[in-house]
Amino acid sequence: MYSVAKLTDYSAAALDAAVRELLSALDAEAATVKSDAEWKAFRDRWMARKNGVLTLVNDLWLKAAPKDAKRDIGQRVNELKTQVEQTVESTQQRMQGGASSARLATDRVDITLPGIRRPVGAEHPVIKTLNEIVGVFRNLGYSVQEGPVIETDYYNFEALNFPPNHPARDTQDTLFVAKQGSKPARERLLLRTHTSPVQVRTMEAMKPPLRIVIPGKVHRNDPPDASHSPMFHQVEGLAVDTNITFGDLKGTLDHAMKALFGSSVKTHFRPSFFPFTEPSAEMMVSCFICGGSGKRGSEPCRPCKTTGWIEILGCGMVDPNVFEFVKGNGYDPKKVSGFAFGMGADRIAILKYGVDDIQLFFQGDVRFLEQWR
Ligand code: DAH
Repeated sequence: MYSVAKLTDYSAAALDAAVRELLSALDAEAATVKSDAEWKAFRDRWMARKNGVLTLVNDLWLKAAPKDAKRDIGQRVNELKTQVEQTVESTQQRMQGGASSARLATDRVDITLPGIRRPVGAEHPVIKTLNEIVGVFRNLGYSVQEGPVIETDYYNFEALNFPPNHPARDTQDTLFVAKQGSKPARERLLLRTHTSPVQVRTMEAMKPPLRIVIPGKVHRNDPPDASHSPMFHQVEGLAVDTNITFGDLKGTLDHAMKALFGSSVKTHFRPSFFPFTEPSAEMMVSCFICGGSGKRGSEPCRPCKTTGWIEILGCGMVDPNVFEFVKGNGYDPKKVSGFAFGMGADRIAILKYGVDDIQLFFQGDVRFLEQWR
């Protein structure tokens, strides 16, 4: 193994030879380093303060040199120092590169193995139906609004012309939020029973003219069965402008039903009552299951209960009393008029897809839901 010897003379030729010998020893030893531990020993042998090769060079070559040779030797020793440091560092880099290529040699990816199959989700049939309904109205220039599911008495009832204690409130089996007794009646919270409160919220925020649809979740205190769920979905619509008539309502909804259920369906309006519309109507569509005949072959048609008509939504002309609540924002009932409608999206999904139990929508059974993939 190389060891640093005293210089016998300080001629340039002698120095050249000594430097060459040292550097070739450095390269040869660097080449044998094969592990981290070996590299550490290599580094210490050449760079340790105590008895490292560089220290010895300093002591035996530089310190021992006669005065007039010191300048020249000092310069060479500095060059050697740089050279040793570089070699030690590049050897370490070779170790680290070697470690990662060793890892590569064992941790190889077998690209022929089957991949991880991530189950593809599907749009939920109710959301799909909501989107289809909203899409029909977007094509007519309606924009989409949403509102809170936890609503105040004011928006759910009062501003929709359900006066406090009015029996019309009983038609909406309301789920009230507990412990609201200390608040003024109109601020008490409840789970909204319909999407209609967003009519008022939107009219407070936007001036007429207005054409909006409002998809969303609603709750009622209905025990669950095949056709009822305490949570379900509605799409509300509202159009306000000057000179909106019942003819606009009929034309718009007739077009929407043809877009949703097929161009051969017919619509039929019969008088009804809602506090927030006057006049009010229920709209029927001809049964798109039996084509309006009430029969499927020799069997009675169940979806329309053999009547040939299916009730699909409530609608009417916005009651002037509702406009009174938002009069300050440009809704003077003497100047504007409007129509509104509201439909149950779950019910429409049931009819469209021939589902016989609304509960299936909300049980999260993948075998049911994957049919919409
Ligand atoms: N909000 C009513 C309900 O849930 C449905 C409805 C009827 C909405 C008539 C309307 C309307 O906008 O004009 O029973």
